[in-house]
This record gives sequence, C-alpha cells and structure tokens, in this order.
Amino acid sequence: MRNGVLAITREGTIAVINDVAYRVFGLTSRPDDVGKPIGEVLRHHPEVLRVLGGAFDLSHLPNRAELRLRSSGKVIGYTLCLIKNDAGAIAGAVLFFKDLTHVEQLEERERLRDRLAALGEMAAGIAHELKNPLAGLEVMAGLLRRQLQDSPDALSILNDIVSEARLANAIVHDMLEFVRPIRLQVEKVVVSQLLRDAITMAESKVSPGDTRVIVQLGHDLPKISADPHQLSQLFTNLLVNAYEAVGGAGTITITGWREDIETVGETTFDVVESPVIRIDIADDGAGIPSEVLDRIFDPFFTSKPQGSGLGLAIVRKIVEAHEGSIDVATRPGEGTCFRVMLPVAPLEISRAAVASLHGRA
Ligand SMILES: Nc1ncnc2c1ncn2[C@@H]1O[C@H](COP(=O)(O)OP(=O)(O)O)[C@@H](O)[C@H]1O
Ligand SMILES: [Mg+2]
Repeated sequence: MRNGVLAITREGTIAVINDVAYRVFGLTSRPDDVGKPIGEVLRHHPEVLRVLGGAFDLSHLPNRAELRLRSSGKVIGYTLCLIKNDAGAIAGAVLFFKDLTHVEQLEERERLRDRLAALGEMAAGIAHELKNPLAGLEVMAGLLRRQLQDSPDALSILNDIVSEARLANAIVHDMLEFVRPIRLQVEKVVVSQLLRDAITMAESKVSPGDTRVIVQLGHDLPKISADPHQLSQLFTNLLVNAYEAVGGAGTITITGWREDIETVGETTFDVVESPVIRIDIADDGAGIPSEVLDRIFDPFFTSKPQGSGLGLAIVRKIVEAHEGSIDVATRPGEGTCFRVMLPVAPLEISRAAVASLHGRA
C-alpha cells in the first residue's frame, strides 16, 4: 500500500499505523505504539494532531485536503473518516494520506498555483478597473436626479440604476477581497467588540427588519492574536447570511466561549494544550438543503438572485489564514449554525513573531 494509514480510537490512542505513515512522519516503528496516546507518538506533528482532534467534532470532515508538516516541510494530501462499530456508534477515526512532495506532483501543483495566481491577478485587475466607472455612474446619477425632480417615473428608474450599480460595486468589492492574498496585520483582538461592530456593519448591508439578535459571550473570552479587519469581515459575512436567512423576522444567536483544544472530543492530545475560542452564529431561518451543503463555501456558489457567492469563500480564506476551522450544522426548516474556531495564539503567527525577535523574519 502506498498510502499512509493512521487510525485512532475515540479515546485518542493509536489503533493502526502502517509503515508508510511511519516513513512520512519520519518516525521509527516501535512494537508498543498501538495503544499509546496519539499525542505521545506524534508529538512533533501538532498540525496532524489538530486535524485528528477535529474528527469527532466536525460534521464535515476534510476530504482531499492538504497539509504541510512543519518539521519536515513535506506536503501531505489527506482524507479523514469516522469509523463506526456494529451498533453504529462512532468508535474511532482514520486518516488516509499520501506524500505529495514527490517531484512531479510538486511541479503539477506549482503549475496550478501559477495559473491560479495569474487568474487572480487578472480578476483583481478587472475588478479594479470596474470600480471607477461604477463610482462615476453613481455621481452622474446624482447630477441627473436634480434635473428630474419633477418627473417621478424617471426618478424611480434612476434609483433602480443606482441600486444596480451599487450591487455591481459590492460584487466587485467581494471579488477583490477574495483574490487578494491575505497579509495578516496581527494584533491582540477583543472579540466581543469585534462582534458588536460586525452586527452594526451587517445591519448596514441588509434590511434587519424585526430580526432579534442575542449575544451570549463567556466572561473568560480571551483576547486573541488576529487581524481585526479580517475577523470583522468574517463575522460580517456570516451575519449578513444569517439576516438574509431569517428574512427580517427571526432570531440570530451569537455565542462565544473559550475552550482548551485537548478537552475536545474527550481525546488525550497532551501536546496541543492550546486554548481556542469558539463562536457560533446561529439563525432560525430556512436552513440549507443537503444537496447544496457541500458547495456553500465554493466561490460563486449562491442561491440568491443578487448574491455574489463569495461571502463564505472569503470567510473560509480568513479562517484558514488564522489557522482556525469552520463547521456548519443545519436543518432545513429550522435554521443554520456556523461554528468558527480560532486559536488564541496561532502557531505560525507566534512563530513569525519569535523569528522577527531573532531577526530572522
Ligand atoms: N445562514 C444561512 N442560512 C441558509 N443558507 C445559507 C446561510 N449561509 C449561507 N447559505 C447558503 O450559502 C450560499 C453561499 O453563501 P455566500 O458565499 O455568503 O454567498 P451569497 O450570500 O452571496 O449567496 C448562499 O447563497 C445560501 O444558499
Ligand atoms: Mg453571503
């Protein structure tokens, strides 16, 4: 078998680990590895532990995802699945993976990345060019409005023109956000403040109507190292969707609390003792039909006549840049809940800070 296989029990002990897995992780096999806590055997691979840690927690497990092993720089492609016992209860999880560092694959990936980068640049260029004429349109409509004060019909058409131009402008804005590479400006961020700003922001973009917003944040919610602008964009996008889902009559509940990641899923990942915050944004709107659930994070997927389909694609990009994760639970007819996990001190960001202290940035 050329694939790596690593299976763990619900308790976080190793059930199966094959030779390929040892080789990819750069470990020497020991006869008593099976039965040991995974955190002990893979202590030099916190990023793999983090993936496994999500297994019992996420409703959407990563499929054909990629990960870079920090210790060796190797890139692995992986799929994570749950294992059920005969009674249908979840007994463990298994990670299937493959070393993608192989030269051909790397070349293939680089070529793909080049193509994507070129496409992104082109999209950014077009979006940028469109901004000026759209702004011009709005200004000229304003001038015209003064000359048309006496003809209500013409005014109403003019208003339609302006709102269409604004819509186009919003799409262009989203597109720029989506293709622009993220460069995080990290600060210590107070998430509760950010959430309140995001509510205000979201309410300026939709008509909130009689929507009730309930905010329940734990008192121990710590400050986190993050980019405040990016995070407020993240929460605004989720909130806009929630407002749109309840359509002016419903309830949005925002819940936030602190958690230590090793307690998640009752597993014993001793090594990743990092605190995280979790933010739930739940609405009691229409829910998401199961046949589109897999596509909601895809760029340009939208079920709305005037949607850009970029809101969640941007959300995912921002979450990933912060080394967090996002999950969704939904029931058609009952509502939807997006759960965002953000590490209080993301590894890569703390590393960059340490590196710059030592003049290596
Ligand atoms: N809270 C929600 N409730 C129901 N459906 C949602 C929710 N959030 C997202 N969706 C679905 O995901 C799709 C993609 O969302 P998004 O990327 O923000 O694009 P847009 O809002 O422009 O359609 C939406 O069109 C909708 O079908
Ligand atoms: Mg949206």
